[in-house]
Amino acid sequence: MKRILLATEKPFAPIAVDGIREIFSKAGYELVLLEKYPSKDAFIQAVGGVDGLIVRSDQVDADIVAAAKQLKIVVRAGAGYDNIDLKACSARNIVVMNTPGQNSNAVAELVMGIMVYLARNGFNGTSGIELRGKKLGIHGYGHVGRIVGLIGKGFGMKVFAHDPFVDPVMVANDGVQYESDVHDLYRKCQFVSLHLPLTNETRESVTSEFLLLMPEGAMLINTARKEIIHEPSLLEMFEKRADFRYGSDIIPDTAETIARNYPGRYFFTPKKMGAQTFEANMNAGLAAARQIVAFFEKGDITFKVNK
Ligand code: 3PG
Repeated sequence: MKRILLATEKPFAPIAVDGIREIFSKAGYELVLLEKYPSKDAFIQAVGGVDGLIVRSDQVDADIVAAAKQLKIVVRAGAGYDNIDLKACSARNIVVMNTPGQNSNAVAELVMGIMVYLARNGFNGTSGIELRGKKLGIHGYGHVGRIVGLIGKGFGMKVFAHDPFVDPVMVANDGVQYESDVHDLYRKCQFVSLHLPLTNETRESVTSEFLLLMPEGAMLINTARKEIIHEPSLLEMFEKRADFRYGSDIIPDTAETIARNYPGRYFFTPKKMGAQTFEANMNAGLAAARQIVAFFEKGDITFKVNK
């Protein structure tokens, strides 16, 4: 009998876990559950005898891979797989997959929530600003960025996008203006939402070179990864631009400095929660379980991300 470990430091909704268990039980597999685990040691212990693994942002590093002697597949129930040591997995012929698009709407809705919250001064009773008629720049036009653009248009925003990996015609067909030069995106847009994956190329790639170009009333929203921002640049932007506000689904390393020096100009979720909805848990969790069954039963590697 195949054993599949669901290791989530940040658990899925119980009903999503039930759904995952049901998919595995129909396939004749056993679900092993490890939630809110206290330490990496607990993860190392649990991964020992399993054939498959589902995680969220949980770190699947070389130690975990080394301990997982029987492991054949890891599915990151979500989009970004920067938490998984692809090299260590590939060296052992372990297939790594993600579940693209499954939690995108949840993240996109959070973007708009943070944007409105900051635009209305944290709902503190003072006069804020509206989103209608403002320019919204999407930096990274993947699944999430595309939905943010769609919702932004619903708010009456003019939407622009930069992404060297997407077809400008597809962007134009969405009614979104494609900016081939990323500088122009920041130069034009008062609101910018980041949707870059974390890679060696994107790490600390959002710098003051772009931020300082933003028009008056600049607002940056980051629901991607904290590492894509060059934090000294972020602090420079806060310091040089009294109009700048920053909303993030990740607490930055410099959060204390920001809180001390720039009150009322930021919002950070206490824990990454873009994908933390009932619907996203169901979509991503169930997709991960189905992908594992399809892999073992049919050799399906559709969503494989490692070489
Ligand atoms: C993702 O990459 O899918 C999102 O950042 C969500 O991550 P989470 O599953 O840890 O909430």
